[in-house]
Amino acid sequence: MNNIPIIAIDGLASSGKSSISKLLSKKLKFYFLDSGILYRSIGYIHKLESIDLNSEKGVKDIISNITLLPSKNLQFQVLYKNKDITNFLYSEEIGLQASIVSQYQSVRESLLFLQHSCVQNPGLIANGRDMGTKVFPNAKLKIYFIADLEIRANRRHKQLLDSDVSSDLGSIKKMLRDRDNSDKDRIISPLKAADDAIIIDSSNLKPDTVLDKILELYKISEACNK
Ligand code: DC
Repeated sequence: MNNIPIIAIDGLASSGKSSISKLLSKKLKFYFLDSGILYRSIGYIHKLESIDLNSEKGVKDIISNITLLPSKNLQFQVLYKNKDITNFLYSEEIGLQASIVSQYQSVRESLLFLQHSCVQNPGLIANGRDMGTKVFPNAKLKIYFIADLEIRANRRHKQLLDSDVSSDLGSIKKMLRDRDNSDKDRIISPLKAADDAIIIDSSNLKPDTVLDKILELYKISEACNK
């Protein structure tokens, strides 16, 4: 695992990190782990089956039934009890649920192994809240995304409408604010930039500009490691 390059991308909800991670994965032909889908899966399954997350056994039972399947587009699909649940995970409600279950130590610890198993040649783009601080502290390059709340809410609102999901801008803004607070304030692995992360404010930047900037930083990090 030590020699496989990892780019860790953390940041606020809807700050543009997933779009950029996908572009980076395409460009570098690296796998793309969106670790948020793991917490979303636990949130979804927890809601569905009312499993007690204070019980270590309950959490282990959920996680032992989750499989990550690499797909042709270099992303991972989530299977629960061999059923593909990926498409059920993207609503704002499940995002909030994910933020709640992500506060449990047992959940975070048990998900480490699944996340580490995604490190595969030729490399990994790891996206989430604690990729650079906790899950992949030795990542070759660490980026931390921020963006104005208003801009993030508008982006998310448009994304939902474009996917034919009904959306209310005011509620999206509130949910994002609640999620930021719960992610930053939690005791275990709170959302924060790693000391060696490069901070990018994506509020007024086009995706291609951000992509070029990160590719440039990656080239420099490669040259430094030679
Ligand atoms: O990236 P996302 O919006 O899909 O993440 C959903 C929630 O999951 C987020 O609000 C907090 C949690 N999460 C986390 O705690 N750690 C991660 N590495 C990724 C997500």
